[in-house]
Amino acid sequence: MALLKILQYPDPRLKRKAVPVKDVHDPEIQRIIDDMFKTMYAKKHCAGLSSTQLDLEIPWAITVIDESADNKQPMCLINPEIISTEGTATYSEACMSVYPSEISAKVTRPEKVTFRALDHNGDKIEMTAEGFFAICFQHEFDHLNGKLFIDHLSPLKRKLVDKKIKKVRKQQQ
Ligand code: NI
Repeated sequence: MALLKILQYPDPRLKRKAVPVKDVHDPEIQRIIDDMFKTMYAKKHCAGLSSTQLDLEIPWAITVIDESADNKQPMCLINPEIISTEGTATYSEACMSVYPSEISAKVTRPEKVTFRALDHNGDKIEMTAEGFFAICFQHEFDHLNGKLFIDHLSPLKRKLVDKKIKKVRKQQQ
């Protein structure tokens, strides 16, 4: 297994749309899933990672999520689709591709989301996510569609966040 490089905003590859996986059992796909879990667990406070934020030639539609504090709930979602949503909730979000971690912003999204996907065995999953898991899922689902959490911000807030990113990254050089 290998650690994958996490692309950093504003890398244009973050805008790529994921390519649906045809054969979950393809060894290449299984290797990418393993590498994605390894990369996620190597980062502190990383609850999810999507293929489109990684230095991969083909960004297959794969997301890994583990929202538990002790890294004991690994979940792999392949070719996810949203079936329905309900309500609204506002959470402060951050992202491994919009680093450093002090860059966070409040994003309003549906509170509940029902989705379907395939797991790492190719079995069908259908579930309704709520709370933090619902936010994680939607954040990752956005990644697979080439969207970052900062794309949800108003132009003014976005400008402020962009400024902050430049400032913090400059300080860290
Ligand atoms: Ni992210």
